Amino acid sequence: RKGKTPEEVVKKYLQKVKSPPEEDCTICMEPLGGPSGYKGPGVGPVSRAESVGRLAQCGHQYHFQCLVAMYNNGNKDGSLQCPTCKTIYGVKTGNQPAGKMEYHVIPHSLPGHPDCKTIRIIYNIPPGLQGPEHPNPGKPFTARGFPRHCYLPDSERGRKVLRLLLVAWDRRLIFSVGTSSTTGESDTVIWNEVHHKTEFGSNLTGHGFPDPGHLDNVLEELRAQGITEDDGLME
Ligand code: APR
Ligand code: ZN
Repeated sequence: RKGKTPEEVVKKYLQKVKSPPEEDCTICMEPLGGPSGYKGPGVGPVSRAESVGRLAQCGHQYHFQCLVAMYNNGNKDGSLQCPTCKTIYGVKTGNQPAGKMEYHVIPHSLPGHPDCKTIRIIYNIPPGLQGPEHPNPGKPFTARGFPRHCYLPDSERGRKVLRLLLVAWDRRLIFSVGTSSTTGESDTVIWNEVHHKTEFGSNLTGHGFPDPGHLDNVLEELRAQGITEDDGLME
């Protein structure tokens, strides 16, 4: 058989809890001492011994069935994220549609980075049909404003951010499909949680330069997606 079942994936990241604390499960809001409040399709009975689990790294506790239900609601990529503290177990991936990421160096300096050239990243994603990992499977999605051009200083730190963005692209985390907060359009390609600078010489949208905190912010946003400096070295 190929792949792990949702139950097997969740179990891998859990330690058993013999006597659950007198607290509520923050997924279903029911007491951890009682059954999971989640009664959806495909939720079978579990033995009492495995009804509550502790996530191995962060220690947060949930009903086993609640974690399985949460996993089934996502894109089932073998990773799990603690809903309380966002600790990631396994390798998180997203639902970015198929497309292309390219980059090159242009011989001009960005405002605030006078001593180096500039990296231009070009993202191109065509419109298409939503898959099972998207909000409305089978329905078309639009893709506005592509190719989207983004800028980074061609400094050591800028190149580090680029390496991590390449990892994020491979893990389908740069864009997603949903409702644009700028235009209100639904079923369209939108930026995911990692900010990009799309203006070169001006800053009319607030997504331009100078912005001294930008590279640090992006590194932090990448970390929240489970991408750290080690990833950039390995890939
Ligand atoms: N440039 C970079 N980032 C942007 C821009 C922009 N022009 N507009 C919004 N964002 C950021 C927002 O700050 C937010 O964090 O993207 C995130 C998602 O915002 P949405 O409006 O939902 O994203 P999207 O519809 O993809 O972007 C709106 O950005 O690049 C342009 O052509 C694109 O006009 C579109 C605009
Ligand atoms: Zn629960």
